[in-house]
Amino acid sequence: MIFWIVQAADEKPAADNDKIKIMKKNDEFEFECTDLSDQGFGIGHHDGLTVFVSDLLPQEKVIVRIIKMQKTYAIGKVVQRLVTSKDRVEPVCAQAGKCGGCALLHVNYERQLAYKEKQLKDLFAKVDPDIEVLPPLGMDYPYYYRNKAQFPIGIQDGRVVGGFYKARTNDIVPVEHCMIQSKKINEIYKWVLDHLSLNQAESLRHLFIRHSDATGKVQVVFIGRQNKGLEGLTQKLVAAFPEVSSVVFNENKRNDNVILSDQYTVLYGSDSLDEKCLDLDIKLHFKSFFQVNPKQMEVLYAQALELADLHKTDEVIELYSGTGTIGLLAARKAGHVTGVEIVPEAVENAKENQERNGIENADFICMDATKFAHQNTKPADVVMVDPPRKGMTTRGIEDIAALAPKRVVYISCNPRTLARDLGEFKKVGYRALKIQPVDMFPNTTGMECAALIVKDETLNAHIAGI
Ligand SMILES: C[S@@+](CC[C@H](N)C(=O)[O-])C[C@H]1O[C@@H](n2cnc3c(N)ncnc32)[C@H](O)[C@@H]1O
Repeated sequence: MIFWIVQAADEKPAADNDKIKIMKKNDEFEFECTDLSDQGFGIGHHDGLTVFVSDLLPQEKVIVRIIKMQKTYAIGKVVQRLVTSKDRVEPVCAQAGKCGGCALLHVNYERQLAYKEKQLKDLFAKVDPDIEVLPPLGMDYPYYYRNKAQFPIGIQDGRVVGGFYKARTNDIVPVEHCMIQSKKINEIYKWVLDHLSLNQAESLRHLFIRHSDATGKVQVVFIGRQNKGLEGLTQKLVAAFPEVSSVVFNENKRNDNVILSDQYTVLYGSDSLDEKCLDLDIKLHFKSFFQVNPKQMEVLYAQALELADLHKTDEVIELYSGTGTIGLLAARKAGHVTGVEIVPEAVENAKENQERNGIENADFICMDATKFAHQNTKPADVVMVDPPRKGMTTRGIEDIAALAPKRVVYISCNPRTLARDLGEFKKVGYRALKIQPVDMFPNTTGMECAALIVKDETLNAHIAGI
């Protein structure tokens, strides 16, 4: 019997045994895909070794070439297709698989949801096999849904280009039209690319465009080292698109991957955009977070509020509260809401949004969520959290448990950190009862989830039907 072992091509064999064959870079073999990873790679096994291959779906057979060896797995590339899955569709974008964005455009949308559901069930079963993972709520039309784009800008072959970074690089893949950005964003993006001079583009790094479908308003932020006559371009832009209500130059001289800096000049209108969230009027600073898929945001928040099951006497703490969207919706059903958020502009927005919407039973505090949870002594009936991708801190979870809330509703855009944090909640006597996934990012590998976490004794009562 011949064994393959995982070993880098330039290393010596792990054992002096001529029956052991070493898989090397550039090896080619027939390969059947058995699963799809949460990063969109086809997964299969070849003589005991796991191989990840892009643009490959379960049930497909191909000739694969190994392009990279790692200690415990290999990465392969399709060199010839032998059997094609019936889940495969022709991508509606010429840059699919190149721009680092939509890793699932080649998969029928219904099947994207099925694959994501299986991945979530597998993931959360490792935390607790009793967690109920509900079927993901998808979109009727999974295109042109995004309300915010941050296009890198550059110069290639003497021409201004914009697009997206190729995965794990700083190389711009030029894109003229994006199938998941709103049509208005596409239109304004094209106009700006056509009107930016080489001199102006040279000093820019990103073009940020936010579009509110609900109010029709658009915000454009030029991000770069220097403003080279962007005032004139702004005048032409607002003349061509009267719906543009805010144009900003954000001066960013940093050399890292942080897109927005603190220095900015308003070139037209204000630094904020008028938005809506369900029936709330929302003022949105360009530095404040807002969900990128407004239709699915409403689905998500409705689900989260249902899981929270709020009553008029409930004291609610909302950590990572952004512009106050969830907190203000919760305040309508609860006794009082305290929102905690670290970005000062977002907290200012939340306070103004509270006033705009005539909601009195809420307070918004600018503070690190973990710090707040640690120093807060006021008990809470319900805690709602919606952290960024990296999730919560262990200390924050322990401090939430110390407040002894009946329920915690955890909204997450990263199932992996959610699973990790549910494990931490379990250690402090809180268990996830159910998870409602909402497909906020169709055609990409992303998935949003709302999880209901309850105190162990509540769970026992629930199981006993009390
Ligand atoms: C996923 S967003 C959710 C915002 C809001 N709940 C919403 O749906 O619009 C996460 C928010 O957490 C904020 N944030 C990040 N780190 C934080 C921290 N350490 N403490 C408090 N807020 C933080 C971000 O600024 C952002 O507004």
